[in-house]
Amino acid sequence: MAESMDYCIIGGGAVGGILAYYLHKGGFGSRIGVFYRRNDSIKAVEEAGGIIVEAGGDPYLVPVTPLHYTTPGVSCEFVVNAVKAVDVPSTLGLMKSLSRNSRAVVMVQNGFGSLELAEEEMPDRCVAAGVVYFGGERVRENYVKHAGGSSIILGSRRGMCQGLMDLATALRRGGCDARVVSNIDFYRWLKLALNSVVNPLTAIAMARNRVVLLEEAQPLVDLILDEVVEAARLHGFNLDKRQLVKHVLNSARNTGENYSSMAQDLARGRRTEVDYINGFVARTLESAGRGLTVNKIITLIIHLIEGWREHEGHS
Ligand SMILES: NC(=O)c1ccc[n+]([C@@H]2O[C@H](COP(=O)([O-])OP(=O)(O)OC[C@H]3O[C@@H](n4cnc5c(N)ncnc54)[C@H](OP(=O)(O)O)[C@@H]3O)[C@@H](O)[C@H]2O)c1
Repeated sequence: MAESMDYCIIGGGAVGGILAYYLHKGGFGSRIGVFYRRNDSIKAVEEAGGIIVEAGGDPYLVPVTPLHYTTPGVSCEFVVNAVKAVDVPSTLGLMKSLSRNSRAVVMVQNGFGSLELAEEEMPDRCVAAGVVYFGGERVRENYVKHAGGSSIILGSRRGMCQGLMDLATALRRGGCDARVVSNIDFYRWLKLALNSVVNPLTAIAMARNRVVLLEEAQPLVDLILDEVVEAARLHGFNLDKRQLVKHVLNSARNTGENYSSMAQDLARGRRTEVDYINGFVARTLESAGRGLTVNKIITLIIHLIEGWREHEGHS
């Protein structure tokens, strides 16, 4: 039987869970469907009666309907895709079907590639990016810890759409600092700069974000960001290197005690999003005729660690 939801969130991990929390608080009892890949996740959420989100130290139960990603016939007013970038291709069919009558589709993945894929697959929908400036960790299938920050910047490269404005309003009502901008790619580049430094350095050093502040990290920060600035320029964006370094170091300081998602993925033996972050910078420069880049070497090192962990069955 066809089911109708106000919000559909594909992926009930850290970001999906926290967005469900804001939407529940701001949507006044809205129907929220959350799609999972594994039946264990669905069972755990059913047992708890929703997703438990720990924000500011207090656990809060967000009532959601957990669904398998192969469930047919669901339609939604708003769709948010919050799976990892590597899993986005496996959600394209679901996304297209959920968004038949939806007013906005938001992709929240870090890096470049996921928004582009969604735009290609859904040429007639209000497809947008959400640049996430909050952190979280999913500690159990049905339990997410909000680790700080509360902002999300939303924007569609297809121009303004009312659906996106209304989604931002619901998020704001729920306590999220949600903003809609007309130049979303600029914010995606700023976030890419941050991720291209913090993620691989913490993952390689197996350290907290504050490792980026060490004196020994500065030559790497410099080399990575030089290439990010060059790649952004090739895409038509002029980033100020000095401002960028400040932005990256301030963010690493503010989230100093956190482990980046790349460090967490490697620790759990999972594939990372490096191809969408440093790999994207490397490919951009390669296609402009640049030889070997630091971002390429970093991508290869992360792949080596991923491969070793897979080979040895670490988890
Ligand atoms: N975590 C953060 O603090 C943070 C901050 C900023 C941006 N981001 C970005 O947000 C994105 C999501 O990260 P995350 O940390 O929230 O991920 P996560 O905790 O690993 O959760 C991923 C979720 O995606 C689900 N999933 C995977 N394939 C699926 C499919 N085919 N259909 C439906 N669901 C599927 C998983 O389902 P199962 O539970 O069934 O496995 C899981 O619930 C990433 O791109 C990341 O870069 C994360």
